[in-house]
Amino acid sequence: MTAHAPIESRTSGVPAWALAFTAVVLLAGGAYFGTNLAGENPSAASSTPEPSGSEFNAVAIMDAAGCQACHGPDLAGVAVFPSLHGVKDGPVSENLADLFAANPDTWAELWIAGTDPATSDAAMRGGMPAFGGPPYSLSPEEIAAVVAYLKTLP
Ligand code: HEC
Repeated sequence: MTAHAPIESRTSGVPAWALAFTAVVLLAGGAYFGTNLAGENPSAASSTPEPSGSEFNAVAIMDAAGCQACHGPDLAGVAVFPSLHGVKDGPVSENLADLFAANPDTWAELWIAGTDPATSDAAMRGGMPAFGGPPYSLSPEEIAAVVAYLKTLP
């Protein structure tokens, strides 16, 4: 008998029941995620269903479009470029006040698209590209997803 005799009752490794439990959880999660991609379950991203665009990743769209280059990495504004955290309350830019008054629900979509005569004037846009047409051409659904996301920012 040595001073360090092994404890014989100790089992090594993860118990079989834990492995089985993990497998079931992964399978159930995978099945839920897989069917969710096909649109059979409510969106996992948000408990409040969005009328359109919920299948789009607004952050990825904005990354690709380069919104952060002007509006800041956290979209909170840089110098002359306004913060996008107040979109739910209407535009901070006085330049957009008339647009907001005429289109209180759709002003942000109209502004980002920049294809409507009310928003397409180059002087009015102040350098912001019109994303609703070439060369950017975000679809109305993509723009709707971006606006829905912006309205969730605190
Ligand atoms: C080249 C710079 C630039 C880029 C890129 C840009 N913007 Fe802008 N954006 C501006 C400027 C400048 C204004 C203010 C225009 C004004 O005051 O008339 C503005 C204003 C806005 C407003 C109105 C804000 C308010 O409250 O007044 C929204 C919403 C907006 N941008 C969204 C976006 C989104 C979404 C993207 C990406 C798809 C984007 N912008 C990309 C420059 C940019």
